[in-house]
Amino acid sequence: MADTRAHGSTAVATGGDTATAPALLQIEDLTSSYGAVRALDGVSLTADAGRITAVLGANGAGKTTLLRTVSGLVRASSGRVTLAGEDITTASVESMVGRGMAHVPEGRGVISELTVHENLRVGALFRGKVEKSEYDRIYDLFPRIAERRDQPAHVLSGGERQMLVIGRALLAQPRILLLDEPSLGLAPRIVAQIFGLLRRLVDSEGLSVLLVEQNARSALSVADVGVVLNLGRVVVTDSARTLMADEDLRHAYLGF
Ligand SMILES: Nc1ncnc2c1ncn2[C@@H]1O[C@H](COP(=O)(O)OP(=O)(O)O)[C@@H](O)[C@H]1O
Ligand SMILES: [Mg+2]
Repeated sequence: MADTRAHGSTAVATGGDTATAPALLQIEDLTSSYGAVRALDGVSLTADAGRITAVLGANGAGKTTLLRTVSGLVRASSGRVTLAGEDITTASVESMVGRGMAHVPEGRGVISELTVHENLRVGALFRGKVEKSEYDRIYDLFPRIAERRDQPAHVLSGGERQMLVIGRALLAQPRILLLDEPSLGLAPRIVAQIFGLLRRLVDSEGLSVLLVEQNARSALSVADVGVVLNLGRVVVTDSARTLMADEDLRHAYLGF
C-alpha cells in the first residue's frame, strides 16, 4: 500500500507516471453527529487538484454526512476542513460556491416545473453575468440535455437528471465538485457515460472531484484514489488500482 497517505499531498501513480499535486481539499480528524449518532468519527482524507477521489462504503458508512459536513450543511463537532489552504470548517454553505466548491447532493434535485435551461440558470444565480458560451459548453458536454433544453425537467430520465444537476453545478465554475451517489439507480451504460465525462473534465480542465459512491466497482474504474469508510471511520486509503486488486477488501467493504 505504497500510496497510503492520510494527510498532505499525495503522490499517486496514474497511467504509469507519478505526479505530485497539492492537496486542494484537506479533511482532518473530522467528527460529526446527529444527536447521539456519531456519523463521522475522526475522518481524515485529502482530495488533490486534478484528481478524482472516490469515497466508498456501504449504506450508513457516513459518506453523505462527510459531504454535508464539508459543504457546511452539517456542523462538525470537531476537526478541520481546508480548501486551498483556507480553513472552511465553519464557513457557511452559501459561501461555498464563491470559494470554488459545488456540491451535488444525492437524489438529483431539479425543479420539475422549470425547463432544463431554467434549471441550468439556477446554477449561475450566485455568479454575476454568465456568458451564453458557458451554457453552450454545458450543452456540448451533455448533448442529451441540449436536445431537451426547452422541455420541463420532469420529462427527463434519471440519467438526464443527473447530467442536468452536474451541468448546473459546473456552471458555478467550481475547482472541486462534490458528487453524492451519482450512479444510484442508473443503467451501467449511463453511469459509464457520466463517469467518462468526469474523467475528461478532470484530465482536460483540471477539475477536481470528490466522488461518493456505494457503487465501488464503477467508482474505482474512474477514480485515481479511493478512500473506504466504514461506520464513520476510514478503513483504508490507496490508489484506485490497488484497491481494485485487493480481493479481501472488496469482499469485506466494497460489495463486489
Ligand atoms: N438526519 C439524520 N439524523 C439521524 N441520523 C442520521 C441522519 N442522517 C444520517 N444519519 C445516520 O448517520 C450514519 C451515516 O449516514 P450517511 O452519512 O447517510 O451514510 P451513507 O451516505 O454512507 O449511507 C447512519 O448511521 C445514518 O443512519
Ligand atoms: Mg448517502
